[in-house]
Amino acid sequence: MKFFYLSILLPFFLLASYILDAEAEIDSIASHKQAGTGENIDTQVVASGLDIPWEIAWGPDNKIWVTEQKGLISTVDPQTGAKHVLLQLNDVWFYRTAGLLAMALHPDMKANPYVFLNYTFEKDAKRFSRLVRYTWKKDTLINPRVLMEVAANNGHSGARLSFSKGKLYWATGDANNNTYAQDFNIPNGKILRLNIDGSIPADNPVKGSPVWAMGFRNIQGMTFSKNGKLYTSEHGDATDDEVNLVEKTKNYGWPAVRGFADSPKEKEFSASTSIADPLKSWTPTIAPAGMSYYSSNTISKWNNSLLLVSLKAKNLRLLKLSADGNSIISEEVFLDNQFGRLRGICISPAGDVYVSTSNRDWTRTPGSPLPEDDRIIRIFKSDKVMSSLQPQQGPQAKTTLYQQYCASCHQENGTGLKGVFPPLKGSALVKTAGLPLIKKILNGSAGPVEINGVKYDAQMPSFAFLKDDEIEQIANYILAMQAERHPVIDQQIIAKARNN
Ligand code: HEC
Repeated sequence: MKFFYLSILLPFFLLASYILDAEAEIDSIASHKQAGTGENIDTQVVASGLDIPWEIAWGPDNKIWVTEQKGLISTVDPQTGAKHVLLQLNDVWFYRTAGLLAMALHPDMKANPYVFLNYTFEKDAKRFSRLVRYTWKKDTLINPRVLMEVAANNGHSGARLSFSKGKLYWATGDANNNTYAQDFNIPNGKILRLNIDGSIPADNPVKGSPVWAMGFRNIQGMTFSKNGKLYTSEHGDATDDEVNLVEKTKNYGWPAVRGFADSPKEKEFSASTSIADPLKSWTPTIAPAGMSYYSSNTISKWNNSLLLVSLKAKNLRLLKLSADGNSIISEEVFLDNQFGRLRGICISPAGDVYVSTSNRDWTRTPGSPLPEDDRIIRIFKSDKVMSSLQPQQGPQAKTTLYQQYCASCHQENGTGLKGVFPPLKGSALVKTAGLPLIKKILNGSAGPVEINGVKYDAQMPSFAFLKDDEIEQIANYILAMQAERHPVIDQQIIAKARNN
């Protein structure tokens, strides 16, 4: 097994910019990066050739346990990169964001050698998300026992699994249904709390109900802190990705409240229903994914923080928590665009951090995947200083508005995804450069439509919250995708579309 050592860093960006004034390039990077905690860290690729790893977890055998979205459960030796397949599931429905997703190992595998898996499957043309428990025996998984099944759809399948004090927590997606998350009696869009045999704990908030907390859209990361606080990361749609501190019985607002309750409508709903605010939200969205609580003195300045990887933003965030864990006091970004989309994260008992890429998933990024994708990367203490940057938001962000708001669905090159997100490149509606185009961007749509003989039933969110000059930029950007010479959208037509 070859190790790829990557030195991530231009040490001391700010200093470098003074010393090496010939290096104009470094200078320009330095202008938007700042030295952060200055921790001494390096990275090393420890495994490659994986196919959409979804969950990575540190096992009692000191191996990294991995789920791959198409249905494989394996262990990877972090020393050699050697992969051993424990089980291939044959009934996984793999499609875009559905498939084999979450996994949790029982924290005491000696006494309870259980592995919990969550995957989507189809039965009689209906889709379900299944929670199943396997028993770990030597080098395989046996005795599957289905613990629970909830509805699934063509998106928003969640999911994460975590343990605390002998109970299993399962974050379910809202199955693309706008009513589920606010309906206490439907297990979608919730965090469920279960015994390890799937039964409902006697001390759950509502007797006979698995629901621990509600009002979630599509949780993609979940972790407990050392003192038992539960944190989640979650995808918004057009705006407001979130990190939440989840407390029992609370309602986190989806779909009525997105991010903080800041619009009049959201404030009204929040006042009548008592909605918990997130600890943090991101607009433009970053597509947050796996999240782990770091409590080790190995990378000592990271102690008591949430480590959050992201798909769209393609980086690792260090979210430093306050001493009581009730707020996020700082945010720093690492590995920006170095390995591509990041989905999985786990921490070894030695305090090393492992992250996994997701460059082979349904999202198309130009230049990706690399032949060695997907990879697992170890982040460890060394004598190098890893660069970190302050997160960039709003107008300073280095990506185009199109990348920030549209590419997650229509793809960076505008080709869309057949049958799910229509292409904007070549779209007749875009070419008109008229009022209906601007209205589509402002209003989005809910219902199924047919474009060029292809049916689309996914939702297009409303972008009315963007400013006129932002809509103008985006509209001209997608017009430029059609042809170099294109009609130009100005703010007059946008104002007209808003009033009409
Ligand atoms: C969450 C996914 C999603 C995002 C983000 C999104 N769209 Fe869409 N978009 C859709 C879907 C689904 C459709 C098809 C349904 C429809 O036309 O209403 C669509 C349709 C469209 C159409 C109509 C295409 C045609 O040929 O009729 C345009 C134009 C468009 N989107 C532009 C945009 C722009 C510009 C952005 C960014 C500001 C954006 N979309 C962001 C999902 C998305």
